[in-house]
Amino acid sequence: MHNALILPDKNDRPKTFNAVFPQVEALLVGETDPIAAMANLCASIQQTFQWHWVGFYRVLGDELVLGPFQGPVACSRIAFGKGVCGTAWKEDRTLVVPDVELFPGHIACSPLSRSEVVVPVHGPEGEVLAVLDIDSIAVDDFSSDDVRALENLVRLLEVVY
Ligand code: SME
Repeated sequence: MHNALILPDKNDRPKTFNAVFPQVEALLVGETDPIAAMANLCASIQQTFQWHWVGFYRVLGDELVLGPFQGPVACSRIAFGKGVCGTAWKEDRTLVVPDVELFPGHIACSPLSRSEVVVPVHGPEGEVLAVLDIDSIAVDDFSSDDVRALENLVRLLEVVY
């Protein structure tokens, strides 16, 4: 008997997000360092939902630089407007890519990634400071409810800045 990884049921996500939200809130309360907050936030999300890659890219100058993440190694730098992350930064909006093979310019850090969501993280002046990037091995894995819940989690991080 081998230890097969049992992925959480997609139908349970709304309930799971509701349970995770106060946990993350408690985890981040009083934390003033954005890197520490990002590290714990991406660990919470990845451990809970078992997504392939969950992490942050921070805006440093004119590019995105890899920040805290959970998952396989990834590209370290992404230019403004490039890939899904750079496009989410440029357009300053959450991007959901149901099939990465159909997104022109998608940066393939892992051949296993099939769908992706990228949520911008804003600073006090509304500027984009970072993006949260989540990759799934399943095509079309992110529902609009998932996106709303992820944006709410990112808001908990924005308070840290
Ligand atoms: N696929 C992303 C690059 C980052 S990795 O997925 C971790 C993109 O196209 O921006």
